[in-house]
Amino acid sequence: MHEPVLAGPAVAWLDVRAEGCYVDCTAGAGGHAERIAAGLRGGRLLAIDRDPVAVAAARKRLEPYRQVEVIHGNYADLSAMIRDRGMDQVDGILIDAGVSSMQIDTAERGFSFQEAGPLDMRMDTTSEYTAAALFASETREALARLLRDYGDVKFPGRIARTIADRRAAGHLNNTRDLAESVREAVPRKAMADDEVRRVFQAVRIAVNDELGALERGIGAALEALREGGRLVVISFHSGEDRIVKRLFQEQSRPRRVLHADGRVKEIHPPALRLLTKKPVVPDEAEVRANPRAHSARLRAAERLG
Ligand SMILES: C[S@@+](CC[C@H](N)C(=O)[O-])C[C@H]1O[C@@H](n2cnc3c(N)ncnc32)[C@H](O)[C@@H]1O
Repeated sequence: MHEPVLAGPAVAWLDVRAEGCYVDCTAGAGGHAERIAAGLRGGRLLAIDRDPVAVAAARKRLEPYRQVEVIHGNYADLSAMIRDRGMDQVDGILIDAGVSSMQIDTAERGFSFQEAGPLDMRMDTTSEYTAAALFASETREALARLLRDYGDVKFPGRIARTIADRRAAGHLNNTRDLAESVREAVPRKAMADDEVRRVFQAVRIAVNDELGALERGIGAALEALREGGRLVVISFHSGEDRIVKRLFQEQSRPRRVLHADGRVKEIHPPALRLLTKKPVVPDEAEVRANPRAHSARLRAAERLG
């Protein structure tokens, strides 16, 4: 099993204090959570994942740490989870967004474009909306839009058309068929693998509403953190990092509320102080050991009063 991505910087930026109260929004295999838990003496850690398989794995790994609770849920609903547990003063929150190696490496989950699997791609296997449901319900135009917006796909129109044609002919039944649709649509073979990867990313993001969850989760994290508390977010592609960067920037500036005639009504002080002016990225050794880390970017900020 790989070390979690940017494990050292993530825990360092969280500034884990022994008696503090922390939330790991994306427990996965529990790697980051274990590092946080190891630093606690009297403190507390709530670890969340929307994938029941990840929850089971993290529970097993974190069993020796009595100060940790691992729960199933979507971190978009962070406010309720924190409220239900009476955690009103959170010292640090970590979001390590996206998909895990555990998910990608299990062909039956449908995340991998290298192996045949069902058109599933749900992180939360208790939810009903799968990739197959997405293909059955979206129009060709909507499909093209999501391929472009969530995957930076180069030929969204052509690929959406091929997918729609295959779907109509009853030939879109598994991840192989999906990858084939992309290969058929791209004009040059040399581009195909990258384009297939981008299409799978876009579909996965749409199935799991990942960007919506990230936006809501960061908002909830701001509400939950005490003054001086830290928010650390690791993202893996440009769509995610754009959201983190924008929200961090917006929240680190005074916010003006205007009257209808344009006069300033109120000025709210900034909610965040940026700790990382530029995103922290993995060093060469980490990328060599774990090529999936290459696109990771970490941003950290501190809650102001
Ligand atoms: C990159 S992995 C996290 C790896 C983890 N930090 C570790 O040390 O093993 C991302 C995890 O976040 C989970 N996840 C993604 N979006 C989520 C959301 N909105 N709510 C809860 N969990 C989410 C995924 O199911 C996956 O297990």
